[in-house]
Order: sequence, then C-alpha cells, then structure tokens
Amino acid sequence: MCGIVGYIGKKHRAQSVLLDGLRRLEYRGYDSAGIAFHDEKKVISCRAQGKVAKLEQKVLKTEKEGVVGIAHTRWATHGKPSVRNAHPHRAGKIHLVHNGIIENYSLLKKELEKKGHVFTSDTDTEVIAHLIEQENKKYDFEHAVIRAAAKLQGAYGIVVMHADEPQKLIALRESSPLVLGIGKEAFILASDASAIVSYTKRVVYIDDGEMVVLTPHEYHVENMERIKQNKSEEILQWDEKQAQKEGYAHFMLKEIHDQPHSIADAMRGRIDVAHGTVKLGGLASVSDRLRDIKRVIFVSCGTSYNAGLVGEYMFEEFSGIPTEVEYASEFRYRTPIVDENTAVIAISQSGETADTLAAVREAKSQGALTLGIVNAVGSTIARETDAGIYNHAGPEIGVASTKAFTSQLVILALFAVLLGRQRSLSLVRGKEILAELAKIPKQVEAILTQEKAIKKLAKKYAKYENFFYLGRKYNYPIAIEGALKIKEISYVHAESYPMGELKHGPIALIDKQFPSVVLAPKDSVYDKTLSGIEEIKARSGKVLVVTTEGAKEVKRHADDVIILPQTIEMLTPLLAVIPLQVFSYYVGVSRGLDVDQPRNLAKSVTVE
Ligand code: F6R
Repeated sequence: MCGIVGYIGKKHRAQSVLLDGLRRLEYRGYDSAGIAFHDEKKVISCRAQGKVAKLEQKVLKTEKEGVVGIAHTRWATHGKPSVRNAHPHRAGKIHLVHNGIIENYSLLKKELEKKGHVFTSDTDTEVIAHLIEQENKKYDFEHAVIRAAAKLQGAYGIVVMHADEPQKLIALRESSPLVLGIGKEAFILASDASAIVSYTKRVVYIDDGEMVVLTPHEYHVENMERIKQNKSEEILQWDEKQAQKEGYAHFMLKEIHDQPHSIADAMRGRIDVAHGTVKLGGLASVSDRLRDIKRVIFVSCGTSYNAGLVGEYMFEEFSGIPTEVEYASEFRYRTPIVDENTAVIAISQSGETADTLAAVREAKSQGALTLGIVNAVGSTIARETDAGIYNHAGPEIGVASTKAFTSQLVILALFAVLLGRQRSLSLVRGKEILAELAKIPKQVEAILTQEKAIKKLAKKYAKYENFFYLGRKYNYPIAIEGALKIKEISYVHAESYPMGELKHGPIALIDKQFPSVVLAPKDSVYDKTLSGIEEIKARSGKVLVVTTEGAKEVKRHADDVIILPQTIEMLTPLLAVIPLQVFSYYVGVSRGLDVDQPRNLAKSVTVE
C-alpha cells in the first residue's frame, strides 16, 4: 500500500534512483505517483495521475538530476486519485511522502487552518507537512519533525526533505514499514526492500517510534526522546532476478510457473521422510511451549486467510489440536479469549499487513504464543512474533497472491506433521505425508503442462459475469481462493460455497448463464460432491470440474474437466489451486485487463 522512496548520496542521481524505486514499488499502489528532488539550487517537483510511466515522461522533461529526493506511488485512502492528491505534499519548504493513515488529521487540519495554513489537497498526508512547517518556525528541522510526529495518531512511514537543507533527509516510522539501504555512496529509504535490492543488500530495518537522519556521508537513528539507537545491519537474501518477469507476459504468470520451485524451497531441508519428522529451525526456541499448546488460532487476511482455512483442516486431523481461523481485522476488535496455551499463528506473505500485525500484538498482550508464517524476511510480523517459519517463496510482485499461497500450504502441512508427531501421529502416517509432499513440485509441473488447455477453457468461460466456486472439506477453502482470484483479476462476480450448502439457498441462482467451478478430487467426500454436481446439471447449470486421475463418474456430468495427479487428501489443495490460478489469469487476459495491477487493489495492505 503506497510505495515510498527516499535517496541521498554524493552523486547526482536522485531522479533516476527514485524512478527506478517507484517502478519496483508500483505493485503497492498505482493510482498516481510523484517525485521531488533537490538539484542544489531548488526543489523540482512532479506529480502525475495514473501509473509511474506517466510520471516518468514528465520528470524526464525537466532534464535535471539531484543529490537528494523523495518519491511516492499512491493507493488512495483520503481523496480521489488526482494530481492534487498525489504525493509529495508540500508546505512551504517542507516536502514529504507518506505511507499510512493519519486518524486525527481533520482535527489537526482545523487547528492549522486557524493558524493560517492553506491546504491544497484532500489528503490526510498534507497535514503532516504543515505540522512540520509550523514547528519549523521555532525548532530546527529534526526537532520540528519529532514535535510534529508527537501530535499524529495513526500509522505512518514518512520521508521528509527541506528546501533549505539539501544535505539532509529525515524519515520516521510508526506502524508502517520502512527500510534503509546502505550503499557505497548513497542511502536509499523505502517502504520495502524491493526498491533497494538492486543498489545494495545492506539494510537496516527502522522500528516503530524511530527517526532516521541521513546526510550523503552518514546516518543515525534516534527514538522520539532523541536518544540514539544502536541498529544492526542485515544482509538481504534476495536474488534480484527473482523480482523480474524473465520473459513472461506478467508477474502473475511467472509466479504461477515459479511454483514447482517455490514449493520445493518451502520444504527444502525441513523434511526427514525416513523418520517421518519435520525440522523447522525457526520454531526451535519455542519447541517446549509447542508441546503444551491446547488451541491454535490462525489470524490472517485475504489469500493468507484462505491458507489458514486449509491449515485448520490439517491441524485438526493430524495434530488433534482444536483450531480456528479468524480474519485478523475481526480478531483485533473482538474480545479474543486466549491464554499461554494458545498459539496465535499469523499467516502473511508481506509480513506487513496492518490488521494481521494488530492481531499479533493483541494476542501477545494477552500472553498467547505468537508465531508467524511469513514470506518477507525481516518484515514487522516476522520480527514481532515469538518465533516463526519463513516461506522462502522469493518476492511476490503480482498483486494477486499465487506462489506465496502454495508455500503457505506447504508450511502448514509441515507444521501439522510436527505438532502431530509430538502428539499421536504415527511414524507410518508421518512418513506417508512427507513422501507425498515431496512429490508435489513435480505434480505441479505436470499440471502446468495443461496451461494451453486451461487457457482455452478460460476463453470459453470469459463471457460469463457470475460464477459459483464449490468444494468440500479440504477443497472448500480452495473454492474460496479460486473465487477470490477470479474476482481480483477478472472483475467477475464469483461466490464460493461448501458444496453441501448450495441446496440451502444459493442454488436458486443457477441457470444457463451461471456456471459453477467444482472441486471434486477422488477423496473421502467425492460421492457427496458428485450429488451436488447432479443437482446443478438438473437445473441447466454449466459445470467445470477439477478432479483427479481415475475419477470416471464425474466426467459424465461435467461440461469441462481439468485432471490433477493423485495425492493424499490433505495435499490436494496444493494441486487443485494451480489450475484455478491459471484459469483466473487467462480470463483476465481474455478480458483485456491488467492482471498484475488490478483496479482498486494494492499489494501489502499496511493501513487498517
Ligand atoms: C489476494 C491477496 C490478498 C492478500 C492479503 C493479505 O490475492 O494477495 O488477499 O493475501 O492482503 O496479505 P499478506 O499475506 O501480505 O498479509
């Protein structure tokens, strides 16, 4: 959600570094973009509605370069996407970019207006610039920033530049991610590491309540009491190639095809098939507490929530621990009843989702063991949970989550086996699960060879405006995920139900124009799913079935069929979701849509 970048260095390259950073952060929001840089005479500012490419055309016309600058790509919260609402915002000599939400902005705005400040946008952000300007009348730049921050309520990652101080850049964080990259002759600040990794792998993660002050030669970090903080540097374990399209038309398609590797990476070095056990190094520090866990709650949002739903089936079946799944946005506002024998497990690709982070903090404050299943190394959720497991899926750039989801499922399966083996899961069953899990990457590869056929189906179904996605047991969450994917990518209305629920009302919608995508692998609920398909066919509904090898009966009723390799029931979600991802992708492409940057969406939702 909103990408921010800042640059300060000895060389005049602010403009090119910032634009490059924006291109890499564009997946966080893309309704408008802007840049301001100091060419040592004055600040040059450009803003544009729409994508970064539009801004770039404007900026290049300036033919200027700078030693310091800030930039922003926006996902609108307050005020429509427009040039006047695009960042950087300015108040006098203060130029600022912001990621987050200022909750008390209207009160602050009124107070500032009384003091004579004139506002030119509808954003909450502009208030911060004016507050700093106001404080700067009495206090120096750094002090003014700290004093302004003390008045803010909400979430913010900000980078600020002063027209009279081209040798300085200040950034501040409260509940919104901020990373500092340390280059040879420059510093780069960004809301995530993808804007930094091509310049340097040396990073410092800025924590809540910290301010970083940069000059072209040095940096230091202070807390709000202006006490210097000792920060440790970390090295990003990213391969820059992972964040490129590598010849694919879209990141989403590339990431779908990454899955045989990303699934293998999620289990690499973690399974011991011979002993039916799992080694999860990130949980070693809490292994004793895990033995005493009596209840598990997954907290997450969107696709990560859907992974939690699969996890619920896995955990209850194999570890015997009562398990629930909660939308993180709801968990935080209920009165969650947790204790030290409850494990609250946050699932988050980005590790920065505001609702999930808040749920973790709430659970922690009540004494629960907090764990993370996180893809982004060093992210806030990864750092704030008591322990956790990284996905190792590599950066996911496409806004719709694909490879992060399947790596979450792998980790949930591993975790279920770990907890199960600590309890009553037999060696034989443990071995069987892990042996089947080890086959999944090759099976996903095999499914992806059907891409052309699925593309053809997508073209055939692209004309429909409504879909049901139906499944039972382990594949009910996959029906939910399939429906979410097609909504996001194709703007098609899709509803998901457990197959058994269809007859309790939704079946009224079925007609020739309302097709159903049914997940019907040959598993313990196969026969029940078949009956549901017959009920749809009896009402002239079209059915596209995703099933497994050897499921002959289903073919008789289906209009179209996609066949998956056979695996054990708990692992079918890992296979079944693949054709649904490919299907959504090609429906979106057939409709001529921008699948990597769907309308209204943004990756990494760092506001509430
Ligand atoms: C859907 C999607 C979102 C995210 C959700 C949580 O394709 O990507 O629904 O899954 O915003 O994000 P993370 O996993 O980063 O917490």
